[in-house]
Amino acid sequence: RIAGPSSLVIFGVTGDLARKKLIPAVYDLANRGLLPPSFSMVGFGRREWSDADFTAYVKEAVQAGSRTAFSESVWDQLVEGIRFVQGGFDDDQAFDKLRTTLEELDEKRGTRGNVAFYLSVPPKSFEQVCQQLSSHGLADSAEGQWRRVVIEKPFGHDLQSARDLNEVVEAVFPADSVFRIDHYLGKETVQNILALRFANQLFEPIWNANYVDHVQITMAEDIGIGGRAGYYDGVGAARDVIQNHLLQLLALTAMEEPISFDAAHLRAEKEKVLAAVRLPKDLSKHSARGQYTGGWQGGEKVTGFLEEEGFNPESKTETFAAIRLDINTRRWAGVPFYLRAGKRLGRRVTEIAVVFKRAPNLLFRDHEEDDFGQNAVVIRVQPDEGATIRFGSKVPGTQMEVRDVSMDFGYGHSFTESSPEAYERLILDVLLGEPPLFPRHEEVELSWKIVDPFEEYWASLDEQPEPYAPGSWGPPSAAELLARDGRTWRRP
Ligand code: BG6
Repeated sequence: RIAGPSSLVIFGVTGDLARKKLIPAVYDLANRGLLPPSFSMVGFGRREWSDADFTAYVKEAVQAGSRTAFSESVWDQLVEGIRFVQGGFDDDQAFDKLRTTLEELDEKRGTRGNVAFYLSVPPKSFEQVCQQLSSHGLADSAEGQWRRVVIEKPFGHDLQSARDLNEVVEAVFPADSVFRIDHYLGKETVQNILALRFANQLFEPIWNANYVDHVQITMAEDIGIGGRAGYYDGVGAARDVIQNHLLQLLALTAMEEPISFDAAHLRAEKEKVLAAVRLPKDLSKHSARGQYTGGWQGGEKVTGFLEEEGFNPESKTETFAAIRLDINTRRWAGVPFYLRAGKRLGRRVTEIAVVFKRAPNLLFRDHEEDDFGQNAVVIRVQPDEGATIRFGSKVPGTQMEVRDVSMDFGYGHSFTESSPEAYERLILDVLLGEPPLFPRHEEVELSWKIVDPFEEYWASLDEQPEPYAPGSWGPPSAAELLARDGRTWRRP
């Protein structure tokens, strides 16, 4: 799977995402031999840069962020196709220049007029950039060529704004040329959910309400907001990661087996399960949110959310959110899915824990008080990628005592192959025109329908989220949410 002749144009090329992820990913793809010799990359931005300045910036980003060893010959090949177009999004001349630059690259390197436009810019600029691309003849492809647009989350901040945004983008690019990035779908371990479930006979027969007690999906980060005040204030954990990453994990965990891995089949199954999600009747009992305070974390003094630079000290934005969802299908009737995500928690970990009903254990009744006997399959998305099965085993000795133990699969132990970074895989798929890993607009809408009522409820409270200490596992209300159902969060 090597990409065909093409160019990638990056808008917002001086931003964090481009510097830390996109540019290194492009280089790593080139280094792995997955880009054609003609591949070209154009940066579009306001800075007064020459091609040489931009090339130096790209080289720095590559050396800081790429995962493969630097190779002069790969770099020499790539560098011939690097250009910078200087201008703002309202600058007609700059878009004309972009067109001539792409034509020149085609002539010189043979990109065959195939172009992917990567909009690594705030959503409020999507409309302007798309319209400029359209009015400068950049969005339409000639016979035998393709033009694609890549947009990054957040896809709106609620259902209505997501619809508006989509209208703007799809007014210029046909739906099948729009690639929406949810980088979790590019992660090796996330794709492995499907392999684990559907390539084995072991799990699927018990992956349902007859055997599963509940599912916990956790995305914990140990970092705070840092310099992202501008983006995060007014967004919060639910919009930032539950609406997209966590609901995608839920969909992959809960969906029915697709008839193939074609985009249409995969998306249809994910959409079915998202459409079947039922919200709790009483959101006050089945949701929790918090804000991290200042304090000590891992021996380091850290700033509280409200004191972070650039922050509104009265911000009501949550840095932790937990919710309960149910899925109204025969497979999942009565099985709660608990989702939680937060910043400045105990450690960085994303995992899906499918927790099974307790075995009757008539022989081991005296253990009923402990956690004992509650089997779980835990898919570790990151770090320490792999999966664990928890089950009870006899403790060696003369007594018939049983304790829970783990059976572990770790990528590092089982495979020598290295995995591409999520953005590598996704950029390659854009260039190849492979859509399965990109949510279509319908999925985005369904996810907002799930998140919006929680947001509306929290907004109606008009109060500060509950404080929690850095390095903890969130506010007390998160534990109460599960305690109410007679359950506890797993300690990852
Ligand atoms: C992004 C969120 O989508 O994912 C960030 O906007 C978050 O707030 C990041 O930190 C986490 O990504 P990863 O790949 O490090 O889990």
